[in-house]
Amino acid sequence: MAFALNKLRVPIIQAPMAGGVNTPALVAAVSNAGGLGSFGFAYCTPQKISDELVAAKQLTSGPINANFFIFHAVPTPSVELQHQSIAALKRLPIAQDLRLLPPEPPYFPDLSAMLEPVWLHQPAVLTFHFGLPTPEVLEHARLLGISVGVSATCLAEGRAIEAAGADFVIAQGIEAGGHRGTFEPDMHDDDLPTLALVKQLSTTLRIPVVAAGGLMTGGDVSLAIAAGATAAQMGTAFLVCDESGATPAHKHFLLTKPTRGTAFTHAFSGRRAQGLRNEFIDAMQGQPHLPFPLQNTLTGPLKQLAAQHNDGEHQSLWAGRAYAQARPMSAQRLMSVLEKEYLLNIKSRENP
Ligand SMILES: Cc1cc2nc3c(=O)[nH]c(=O)nc-3n(C[C@H](O)[C@H](O)[C@H](O)COP(=O)(O)O)c2cc1C
Repeated sequence: MAFALNKLRVPIIQAPMAGGVNTPALVAAVSNAGGLGSFGFAYCTPQKISDELVAAKQLTSGPINANFFIFHAVPTPSVELQHQSIAALKRLPIAQDLRLLPPEPPYFPDLSAMLEPVWLHQPAVLTFHFGLPTPEVLEHARLLGISVGVSATCLAEGRAIEAAGADFVIAQGIEAGGHRGTFEPDMHDDDLPTLALVKQLSTTLRIPVVAAGGLMTGGDVSLAIAAGATAAQMGTAFLVCDESGATPAHKHFLLTKPTRGTAFTHAFSGRRAQGLRNEFIDAMQGQPHLPFPLQNTLTGPLKQLAAQHNDGEHQSLWAGRAYAQARPMSAQRLMSVLEKEYLLNIKSRENP
């Protein structure tokens, strides 16, 4: 039988976060504490996916979530746009000595190859961002008893997810850190806040709804549940955990720049994503960029150099709007704090 979200002892999902944040130690600590730990495997090789799933399974017998992007075919951009996008990046002092080359096809990894280790190691949960998996993928997961979730940013996407036969929907509000999960990169976006979207989806759909975006405390989890969610997916809260693989600059900026705020940008990857505001985001505002994920490949060397130099001003510091409430500690401790806060809030709601 497929894993059911309402069976989690603690209704908390540590969000999938591509780019090395979700170490096996982080994922396992959350699952061992009664929640659901997730891997963001967006750009990983099948070997890496296999290794990480095996490593996490050695640390926990709890449920694990494997998350992937649904990449959309993208035509090769014009030579003019390629030159303009490279020139825009070259104006940044950090990029002056870097060789930035236009990406070559294939522009993104092959999902069917990436799913091979999933079918082999069978994590309890499989989730997708940026659109729907094919009916074949959904059927394969169903046969193996793997529960499938897909991100939605609006009611129309939620309806499509239910109609496709997914097991649950992740309601991603505008407060969420990282990429907006909109199915179409350039579609109109109502930018709905998390709790409003959860209410809309949970009163319209029959499948369970997971709340994602701006949830930092156990009190926030209880608000999400009261709004109709079955569980809360939290990313930024776990970014600063000891076991998180976020870069030292990412953690440092989150913990020491509480008033800087977040901003959306297309300039790191080509798709709209929210992170802590930094010099890169400010300088690249309104500048030409390649489509997703070509811009992500193009900015790769720049981000690597920034990480090597511990330079938080020129790397993507994905973060949700409530990042100033992030608490640095072990994931086990954070889960225990969140659980206590959640139970306290539930009790005070029952006995006001
Ligand atoms: C650093 C970072 C990376 C992320 N990468 C992914 C990802 O690979 N796949 C995905 O579905 N969501 C990704 N997200 C979005 C999260 O799943 C979730 O929607 C978000 O973290 C919730 O908002 P919060 O950060 O305010 O808790 C990412 C978020 C962050 C902060």
